[in-house]
Amino acid sequence: MSTILVNGGRVLTGTARVSGAKNSALKLMAAALLAPGASVIRNVPDITDVAVMADVLRHLGATVTRHGHTLTIDATGVADVEAPYELVAQMRASIVVLGPLVARFGRARVAMPGGCNIGSRKIDMHVSGLERLGAEIAFEHGFIEATAPSGLTGADVILDFPSVGATENLLMAAVLARGTTVIDNAAREPEIGDLVDMLVAMGARIEGRGTATLTVEGVEALAPAEHATIGDRIEAGTLLAAGAITGGEVTVTGFEPMHLEMVLAKMVRAGCAFEILPDGATVRRTGPLGAVDVATLPFPGFPTDMQAQFMAMMAIADGSCVITENVFENRFMFADELKRMGADIDIEGHRAIVRGVERLEGAPVRSPDLRGGAALVLAGLAAEGETRVTDIHHILRGYEGLTGKLAALGADVRIAED
Ligand code: EPZ
Repeated sequence: MSTILVNGGRVLTGTARVSGAKNSALKLMAAALLAPGASVIRNVPDITDVAVMADVLRHLGATVTRHGHTLTIDATGVADVEAPYELVAQMRASIVVLGPLVARFGRARVAMPGGCNIGSRKIDMHVSGLERLGAEIAFEHGFIEATAPSGLTGADVILDFPSVGATENLLMAAVLARGTTVIDNAAREPEIGDLVDMLVAMGARIEGRGTATLTVEGVEALAPAEHATIGDRIEAGTLLAAGAITGGEVTVTGFEPMHLEMVLAKMVRAGCAFEILPDGATVRRTGPLGAVDVATLPFPGFPTDMQAQFMAMMAIADGSCVITENVFENRFMFADELKRMGADIDIEGHRAIVRGVERLEGAPVRSPDLRGGAALVLAGLAAEGETRVTDIHHILRGYEGLTGKLAALGADVRIAED
């Protein structure tokens, strides 16, 4: 069993470059299904989630080849429209093949992704949006079946909540629908803008990039395109938090700092100083970390994917703060592990009260999910002694070479095979 071993107390310094954004690359790969021919996606992270999505596309009949961080996806041969349970269960974001498949082929059959450790991960907005576009939806034997034998028809869709996945699925359905689709209350995460950029490069007609209202003029057909994935802002925030929690000076490049504006603002409030660079940022600590309240919200609010990493910082901050998780219903599981390292945290529903302590103690801990696992590694960097993080498959699925990047910054961290 693989374990991440961290010996804490090192001050991190130096420069790290992030990989391409996991939460964009997976959707860009699905977008390649919309056109026959070979699309080229650059800056794709080498992580297990991408490998699973590649297997989903291959199962559908596409060819997927990787050269370094570039994927070539040829969707000419896509003949099947079924994404099987054994693949979807490994990576629930596979649900975003639903929109492109029903748009191009008039039919899609995707295993229901089910929940995960952080919440129920419902897909009702995906389904109701596709129905608004004229798809007929059936649920049977654990699959969602969407059919539109005479194609999809543009419509006005308003999302109850700015769901990232629902916005992406509906965008990729609307681009080939007859007529105009308006998606209101759309998600505004930077990964949505990245998907819009690739779809437009394929010939789609989309207005409102970056806003909560996306207007799509359907077209007859799309063509393959070349596109570079944006840098991973959550990986960047995680590496910057590593600098902050150890009191070092760390530069992270390869991402757009504006994509992390709220995170940087909260870290400044917590006593960090930043130098903003054209393609990244440098963080340094100007004194002890101070406690700062945070509430997670859809973009441009504080990203839920940085909640755990920020809580690790607050665990050793001066004072107490309240961290409110508004996006997922069960995203504090890692807090119990953090408490085993000496953190003083009380969970009350979707609020965590964090009282900073002098130092954390290294301990054996279990990674409950992707970002919680990363947060435990960060806590280990600042803790006294050795921290052993198990169940690290959660971490490897979303971070490319995290331990290598941290070690290059001076951390005493490695992956050990037990
Ligand atoms: C994406 O998940 C990301 N994953 C998540 O990152 C991220 O936390 C999330 O967006 C929010 O930013 C990928 O992009 C692969 P949502 P997604 O639809 O699309 C509820 C990580 O750590 N909801 O915006 O699933 C849902 O249950 C991962 O990298 C419905 O109720 O997020 C959740 O509570 C974790 N009905 C909330 O909305 C729906 O139809 C936000 O979900 C859809 C969603």
